Amino acid sequence: MKITATLQFQSHLSPGLLTMFLLKTWRSTAFGIFGYLNFTKAGFVEHSKKFKPEDMETRMNGKNCIVTGANSGIGYATAEGLASRGATVFMLCRNKERGEAALSKIQSATGNTNVHLEVCDLSSISDIKSFASRFSSNDVPIHVLVNNAGVLENKRVTTSEGFEFSFAVNVLGTYSITELMLPLLEKAAPDARVITVSSGGMYTAPLTKDLQFSDSNFNGVEQYARNKRVQVALTEKWAEIYKNKGIGFYSMHPGWADTPGVATSLPGFSKSLSGKLRTSEEGADTVLWLAVQPKEKLVPGAFYFDRAEAPKHLLFAATGGSHSIIDSIVDHLRSMSNLSSQS
Ligand SMILES: NC(=O)c1ccc[n+]([C@@H]2O[C@H](COP(=O)([O-])OP(=O)(O)OC[C@H]3O[C@@H](n4cnc5c(N)ncnc54)[C@H](OP(=O)(O)O)[C@@H]3O)[C@@H](O)[C@H]2O)c1
Repeated sequence: MKITATLQFQSHLSPGLLTMFLLKTWRSTAFGIFGYLNFTKAGFVEHSKKFKPEDMETRMNGKNCIVTGANSGIGYATAEGLASRGATVFMLCRNKERGEAALSKIQSATGNTNVHLEVCDLSSISDIKSFASRFSSNDVPIHVLVNNAGVLENKRVTTSEGFEFSFAVNVLGTYSITELMLPLLEKAAPDARVITVSSGGMYTAPLTKDLQFSDSNFNGVEQYARNKRVQVALTEKWAEIYKNKGIGFYSMHPGWADTPGVATSLPGFSKSLSGKLRTSEEGADTVLWLAVQPKEKLVPGAFYFDRAEAPKHLLFAATGGSHSIIDSIVDHLRSMSNLSSQS
């Protein structure tokens, strides 16, 4: 019955729409199978057989790191992992109480008192700018910026500045904080790096100019995937335009981890994979690995998963060509955030 209905529905589609429908179906199916085999806890256990323990032994004393969204899930595990290696960590959180609670937990778990809270709402350009000007006045070199904060909002809501909410946090917030931290990152060159936590979900989406999902059929999961695709393409672009600044730009995805964000935004997914998801620490493993590797080992602009470079596109998904529009997206982000080019 369901198959007949689908076929009837397809027969009413124009050839262009039918191709789009088939492509979307293929991308989601391929992503589901690939993800189930690789992104779950079982995937981590399998991939970790190739991990080298000595890769993670580097100490980070004297290194300054910013982790966004550091009070929960993967961001918390990243901040704790950096603090346990002796780094000075600035936890950038949107909520003071949640931030303070996480900060004191990390300080007592690691014994590192060089862990600090910075309150900033990454959905607001004006908040990001005031954080950046306050923070930059201290003139601290930044060795590692981890763009971890992220949201998946199922309904289309807009921020007080008029931007679609997921886009505001995941794309415009990531873009703005990174651009505004460039002078401090340059102070730590050639050792500086920016690690952006994307998602395997981005495999299902090509890059599109419709950054704020203006379509009336808003789909939060699709918008999230689109946002995460922008992060990967943006990282590639940053690596190219800032190649002489001594800053490494990398994106990665954590696999599927059992975090408060997943439980809230994807309750069905979280329940159906109960017991099969990674821990937040397993999700954060590649972020920490990227933070401590010698830069010569890493490929500028690359996408990483489980301590190895990963493809940016699934087979036959026809997403590869879409990255060619990144220049116009960067122009658009620059004008939306009202930032000037740092190149
Ligand atoms: N878990 C997974 O399976 C998975 C898979 C792929 C990718 N990721 C990515 O991993 C990253 C971390 O996600 P998670 O799963 O650890 O989720 P999480 O537990 O919800 O953590 C997200 C963090 O981002 C913060 N945040 C959200 N909006 C913010 C804003 N406007 N300003 C500042 N901080 C904000 C949250 O703060 P509050 O606590 O105040 O909300 C929280 O600290 C995200 O980028 C996500 O897309 C996760």
